[in-house]
Amino acid sequence: MKVKKTKFDGVYKIDNKLATINLVPGEKVYGEQLVKIGNIEYRIWDEFRSKPAAAIKNGLENFPIKEGSKILYLGIASGTTASHFSDIIKNGIIYGIEISEIPLKDLILIAEKRKNIVPILADARKIEQYEHLVEKVDVVYCDIAQPDEVRVFLENCKKFLKEKGYGMIAIKSRSIDVTKNPNEIYKQAKKEIEEYYEVLEIVKLDPYQKDHAILVCKA
Ligand SMILES: C[S@@+](CC[C@H](N)C(=O)[O-])C[C@H]1O[C@@H](n2cnc3c(N)ncnc32)[C@H](O)[C@@H]1O
Repeated sequence: MKVKKTKFDGVYKIDNKLATINLVPGEKVYGEQLVKIGNIEYRIWDEFRSKPAAAIKNGLENFPIKEGSKILYLGIASGTTASHFSDIIKNGIIYGIEISEIPLKDLILIAEKRKNIVPILADARKIEQYEHLVEKVDVVYCDIAQPDEVRVFLENCKKFLKEKGYGMIAIKSRSIDVTKNPNEIYKQAKKEIEEYYEVLEIVKLDPYQKDHAILVCKA
């Protein structure tokens, strides 16, 4: 098996599969495959389970997460995607906001080993619940799959994004309006976000994640 670098810091390709270097060798997070090449253990990053991986597979040009990044993650769930961010950022930090206790319990176990993840039980609509725990960040990543996710994303970006920071939002068109064409939903989200930030790109995630897209913007 051969490992290749990609154009993104900390993201590799092994036989056409994406991978990150395991921050906690020997430990899996969501049943992903571990691959040892030389002295380095990689975790295969499954594009069917993680939206940024699907976006990279589909030609994403801007991936602002790199070594040392500070991230505010809205809708971190049990940490499937966040674990790969954690591999990439190393000594950076992920503030993970999650409204539901059930996935957060699993995340807490993961964060005991991955010291760069801070699990926070809170509602991303209620910034006052966590503003005292979170600092200004390089990236706000939002994946809450809610009808008002664009508004919630923008409010958090306005509060927590550094001057030259980046925002990434996973848009689930069916959560916003099942009756509308997904392209219309993406267009509308772009319009709302463009009022405040420069939209760099929107990448659709089909066939890995049906009727989803990731939008990347810059402060
Ligand atoms: C699609 S899942 C996230 C999957 C995760 N981002 C990943 O890739 O591993 C959406 C998550 O957002 C959470 N969520 C929904 N509304 C929320 C809110 N208002 N504040 C915080 N989390 C929320 C849900 O409980 C759920 O865990």
